[in-house]
Amino acid sequence: MRVLDRGDQLRTELDAARAAGPTVGLVPTMGALHEGHASLIRRSVAECDVTAVTIFVNPLQFNDAADLAAYPADLDGDVALAAAAGADVVFAPSVAEMYPAGPPAVTVHVAGEDTMEGASRPGHFDGVATVVAKLFNLAGPCRAYFGEKDWQQLRVVRRLVADLSFPVEVVGCPTVREADGLALSSRNALLSPAEREAARVLYRALATAAIAKAAGECDARILMVNMVAKEPLATLDYAEVLPDRLLVAARFGNVRLIDNVGA
Ligand code: PAJ
Repeated sequence: MRVLDRGDQLRTELDAARAAGPTVGLVPTMGALHEGHASLIRRSVAECDVTAVTIFVNPLQFNDAADLAAYPADLDGDVALAAAAGADVVFAPSVAEMYPAGPPAVTVHVAGEDTMEGASRPGHFDGVATVVAKLFNLAGPCRAYFGEKDWQQLRVVRRLVADLSFPVEVVGCPTVREADGLALSSRNALLSPAEREAARVLYRALATAAIAKAAGECDARILMVNMVAKEPLATLDYAEVLPDRLLVAARFGNVRLIDNVGA
């Protein structure tokens, strides 16, 4: 496996691969890789000839400086996990490599995502869309793997590809969970043992509300609000019920977690 830190190296490497025929798979991440990321990498390895994993903690998508400063980093561990999952290339650029002229003057603006993450994290999806557009431009035609864990982000990336005509096929992948239901997240490592225990309420609330919604029994949103309210270490950010999805976000101390399930 090759580890690259320059955009021109990634472009050259993947262009050369494509010239010989292979399908390129791209797995964008912010590092602190876990089994959720590994599942995306393995899916790409199974479906594509060459798989590139990108590792870049994108400052543009953090609206909270403390969240950015606390974001876990472990490049050696990430490289080992990517290699074990079968990746061919890791692209881990610096902030200066991705934004050589400082914060970009030209960015991608996402309209119409003003609820949930869009409401709680102003500018977040503009930052995500801008960095993902850059990664797509560096990688070239590819299949790109994204997790349903970040359901709204997946929706934004699909719109990005459709609206700006990127030669990219977006592949959505199911959420990988701990045995007790907690969705794997790089931020889980920041939870205290008591907060980790409390965080189980997210999936419990989603699963209970999904059953109630299917049965048409009661207001699934209120059910989630009440279940999270009963957990003393949790502060609810939002609970939403869409026709096909239930979503929730809450804080546990300084750590903000999100999750969702199909409905
Ligand atoms: P990050 O949070 O590192 O996630 C990278 C990818 O892994 C995303 O597509 C995310 O949905 C997926 N993922 C995370 N946890 C998962 C889980 N438990 N099961 C399945 N997939 C999971 O999302 C980002 O980084 C960034 O916003 C990025 C798209 C890289 C742009 O900076």
